[in-house]
Amino acid sequence: MQRIRGRMQLYIPPAATQDTGVETWNAIRSRRDVRDFSERPIDDDHLVRILDAGRRAPSARNWQPWDFVVVTDRAVLVELAKVFGGASHVGRSAATIALIAPILQEGLELEYFDLGQATVSMMIAAADLGIGSGHAAVADQELARKILGHPDDRFCAHLVPLGYPATRPLFPMRRPRRRPFAEVVHRGRW
Ligand SMILES: Cc1cc2nc3c(=O)[nH]c(=O)nc-3n(C[C@H](O)[C@H](O)[C@H](O)COP(=O)(O)O)c2cc1C
Repeated sequence: MQRIRGRMQLYIPPAATQDTGVETWNAIRSRRDVRDFSERPIDDDHLVRILDAGRRAPSARNWQPWDFVVVTDRAVLVELAKVFGGASHVGRSAATIALIAPILQEGLELEYFDLGQATVSMMIAAADLGIGSGHAAVADQELARKILGHPDDRFCAHLVPLGYPATRPLFPMRRPRRRPFAEVVHRGRW
């Protein structure tokens, strides 16, 4: 705990309070799951940058188990939003990236790990551009395949809806909704 202007504040790690001038750090602190998007479209060069951030993500043995299908058509987005009850924000997004991956008997955990890395790379790249992003799971794989057209040996692992936030533009958060730093981090050993 530290005392700031007479009030007790939660301890904030020093790195989080210093402006290092590194934009990535601002993007990391600004990213949150956005579910209400404005009507503003995303410039194609920005969309390309976000997709390229995913393409450049690391993966086990560099196997890159992903293809990205990017959807910007409103009618298609509204249909795609029906793949899961918690995916309604897909229908309000300016664009949604579907992560398509091989259907595996073994190695699914590793695959999800790598898809997660690609996802967060795209989200940080989006936040760096002031573009909000979210996650959406996919329950109805049949519907996802009908809409996206990927081959039978692939599935849609998840969706990343994108768009400018309708309210609350992205801004570095001083207090993210996260467990305290001192509780999460164990120096040297647990
Ligand atoms: C694997 C995964 C699946 C998720 N699925 C959904 C989803 O289907 N719908 C949704 O609205 N949010 C989904 N989320 C978003 C989480 O609820 C969100 O990341 C978490 O609450 C933290 O939000 P914050 O970063 O805005 O604090 C998912 C997140 C992850 C990592």
